[in-house]
Amino acid sequence: MGGDRRILALLSEQQQENQRVREALIRVNVGANVVDSPAGIGTSIAAGGVDLVVCDAQTMEPQRAHELVLSNVPDGERQPVFLALVDSFDRDRLGREPAFAHFLARPFRAETLTALCRSLLEDIRSDVSTDRTLAVAIRQPARFSARPLYADAVSFARESLARGREGLAPDMGWARLVAERLHTSLVQSNLLLNRALEPHQRFDLSTHSVNVAIFAGKIAHSRDLPLDSTLRAIEAGLVHDIGMARLPESILFKESGLSAEERQEMERHPTLGAELIAQLGPSYGWLERAIRQEHERAGGQGYPEGLAQEEIDPIARVLGVADVFEAFSHTRAYRSPFTAYEALERVVAMREEYFDGAIVDALANEISVFPLDSYVKLSSGAIGRVIATNPGNLMRPTIEVLWNESWAPIDPKIMALDQVPDIAIERPLHESEVPIT
Ligand SMILES: [Fe+2]
Ligand SMILES: [Fe+2]
Repeated sequence: MGGDRRILALLSEQQQENQRVREALIRVNVGANVVDSPAGIGTSIAAGGVDLVVCDAQTMEPQRAHELVLSNVPDGERQPVFLALVDSFDRDRLGREPAFAHFLARPFRAETLTALCRSLLEDIRSDVSTDRTLAVAIRQPARFSARPLYADAVSFARESLARGREGLAPDMGWARLVAERLHTSLVQSNLLLNRALEPHQRFDLSTHSVNVAIFAGKIAHSRDLPLDSTLRAIEAGLVHDIGMARLPESILFKESGLSAEERQEMERHPTLGAELIAQLGPSYGWLERAIRQEHERAGGQGYPEGLAQEEIDPIARVLGVADVFEAFSHTRAYRSPFTAYEALERVVAMREEYFDGAIVDALANEISVFPLDSYVKLSSGAIGRVIATNPGNLMRPTIEVLWNESWAPIDPKIMALDQVPDIAIERPLHESEVPIT
């Protein structure tokens, strides 16, 4: 017993620290299979047999790693014990939150880590405290999870659509509360953004609205807009499609393309929405405008009025970019979603003709095209990991090249793509494509 116990470790970038932890884990002496590819965590867990996950908080946010682990545990298999290595600041922070995992705070001795891992694995083996471990493991600290906040926002959007169906305006006091909470989270971390980018099985107007609100908030934040304008952009995102509630479901959920007549009906939704908002009186004139104009496009291609450029309300311009990006990155009845990268590429391609370019740039700034630690295939055929982004050219980050074109590991080589003009990124790799080294 024990020889088949596997430890999956997501280790620090820092070579020395990485080595120290790695050795400590091997000393655990349970046939530790130490792997250190954050991108491959899902695949490794899904392959089964992992008993302990050790996650360095500097490599991957523990909550995110933990969620990835939970969602990949094969059916019928017990979830692995989760140990997060955190620095002392984190420990302070975590001390105030309920824990979802075991934590070891720096500075720690290698022997301590070895001993802790042994005892955690002993616990599993003897089943003595499995219940305790599992109970601890499923409690999630609010600070690390955007889930409840996202769910609250979806409830608001759902309720607003229900009111819309009755011909009632949304409760904007509630909208402001939701917007404030979303904003606080958006400036602290990318948890909400990641959630907004998650694929869904089918189109749902409430989650669409929340996602648009999140993207709009990110754009406003990136543009350094005053707090009140940022909150307004988020509020507007939450209710931007309220007019849809006035349309028959046969049009909203139609699987195939719309007839010309149905399309015309569909294109009434900004006007219908603005009419609902108008009930709130002149103090919400800004919102009425934003909603009426969310489908206007800079080149005059939009509807209902075919306004162009500066004629379009500034919040409506933000909503337009956020809305199109949301649509590209999620499922529609007639197609599966594009990756965030492809969705952004499409929005960027529309930049000149359809949008306010500065707003597209703001979105691109917030959505990392190639996030840190993601894997990419280069035009040379080699495969590497993004280790630094390049604000001057998002398409040319710095890569640590790890494999050759036939996936044979090579001596890691650092390559700043802006200094190697003849090599480009061919495509981002999904984490399931990357082997665990
Ligand atoms: Fe819309
Ligand atoms: Fe929309």
